[in-house]
Amino acid sequence: MYYSSVIAIDGPAGSGKSTLARRLASSLGWRFLDTGALYRAVAAEASARGLGAASDGELGRLAGELDIQVALESDLCRVFVGGRDLTGQLRSPPVSSLASRVASIPEVRDSLRALQRRIGGEGRLVTEGRDQGTAIFPEARLKFFLTADAETRAGRRLKELRDKGRDDTLEDVLEGMLDRDGRDAGRAVDPLREAPDAVRLDSTSMTEDEVLAAMLAKAREAFGDASGV
Ligand code: DC
Repeated sequence: MYYSSVIAIDGPAGSGKSTLARRLASSLGWRFLDTGALYRAVAAEASARGLGAASDGELGRLAGELDIQVALESDLCRVFVGGRDLTGQLRSPPVSSLASRVASIPEVRDSLRALQRRIGGEGRLVTEGRDQGTAIFPEARLKFFLTADAETRAGRRLKELRDKGRDDTLEDVLEGMLDRDGRDAGRAVDPLREAPDAVRLDSTSMTEDEVLAAMLAKAREAFGDASGV
């Protein structure tokens, strides 16, 4: 299938993918998919079932059995497991840590790949993750690889955490981020990679508005009036 109206955005943690994917989808009037939330939902459900320390095989089987549904709008991506909305439970540190492990299990990725492609097949989708332009939608007409210096990314993540009332230090955030980056880029299946045909945007010294403007210009080039912009 040719995913004609899919925009794939990949990049490391803290690169601004999620915010920019949401803003780009809103500008275009397209749907927004946060694929990290799917891995997080498997992790949250595993943890709720007491399977936080289960083997890869058990976690892989669990992912295959779960009924995962999404409700997508241009600025919102809700994830339901067995009809229950888990969206509010996906960001805790234990879920983040288990999600990173869950994401390295091939059977989990197989189950979620099918779900993501089904969603992409419905069109008009801005999707973000680590493997969208390389493994899930290699035929997407427009791909971005968003990046920034590790210190800049950690600083942004720290600000988000401080805004939520947490008092983490920059060193802690940077260490946790580099650890997850290493795991995401170093795993055997669908590691974080830049697609050869991706538009690379380094946001280290760009504002969010500048990155969005650059993305919209590319979307107009790729989709013309069909993008709705
Ligand atoms: O983007 P995030 O932090 O919400 O992602 C959660 C975890 O899932 C993270 O360890 C990276 C992994 N992930 C992945 O392997 N592939 C994706 N397409 C999206 C996320």
